[in-house]
Amino acid sequence: MTKVFGHRGSKGYFPENTLLSFHEAIRAGVDGIELDVHLTKDRQLVVIHDATVDRTFDGSGYVKDFNLVDLKRLKLNQSFKSFTHYQSTWDLERIPTLEEALEIFALAKIDLNIELKTTQFDYPGIEEMVISCVKQYAPSLNVIYSSFHLPTLARLRACDPNCNIGFLVEQPIPLLQDYLKQFQLNKIHLDKSLIKHIKMTSDISMQDIKVWTVNKTSELIYFLNKEVDTIITDFPDRALQIRHELKA
Ligand code: G3P
Ligand code: MG
Repeated sequence: MTKVFGHRGSKGYFPENTLLSFHEAIRAGVDGIELDVHLTKDRQLVVIHDATVDRTFDGSGYVKDFNLVDLKRLKLNQSFKSFTHYQSTWDLERIPTLEEALEIFALAKIDLNIELKTTQFDYPGIEEMVISCVKQYAPSLNVIYSSFHLPTLARLRACDPNCNIGFLVEQPIPLLQDYLKQFQLNKIHLDKSLIKHIKMTSDISMQDIKVWTVNKTSELIYFLNKEVDTIITDFPDRALQIRHELKA
């Protein structure tokens, strides 16, 4: 059965990559959650999508130029006030550390996809730090690490020969199966528009593919019928409901 992962938690309804967003995705019944990590100036792993804080929090500048204590002072950007579910309690949300997020997932016992955001800055040593953090705070969690940056994936594999790794693909790549073999990658995480470019071979099946960001009803039905391994969505409740209806 296709798994449903919440993209940055429940991004469609709650402030992305916050503990609130993770709790709400878990409450909706997701099989897993996708989140993004960067590294602070004082080398703390934090959960945020962009390399800068500007879009989602009330500060300005690169995550890599903040110490954690200063990042933690930032409040959510005012733009989240336009969300349907907005409540004043959202103002208590802060940029989570990976450790804080892992503590939630360890209790919830759902799967996790940690995306290492290393395309803009390489954050030396981040791969080993992320793997160690998981081993320390959620050792029994089923985790898949992903990145758009192939050297990051190779470093993850070097750090842990047994970890699960997903290759984020956002443009057509010929002979994708060669990447899987050569870099010992476990899954392809595919931009949804690229499914038509993927040729099923003896080396690649729908079970090797996680697709993001599948949000519309028609797309959800399409990918659920295709039986891809995982759908990563901003609206996990919608995906879970449609999966339930298709099964009935
Ligand atoms: O991991 C899937 C998806 O999150 C990749 O793109 O930009 O949303 O991190 P982005
Ligand atoms: Mg991501």
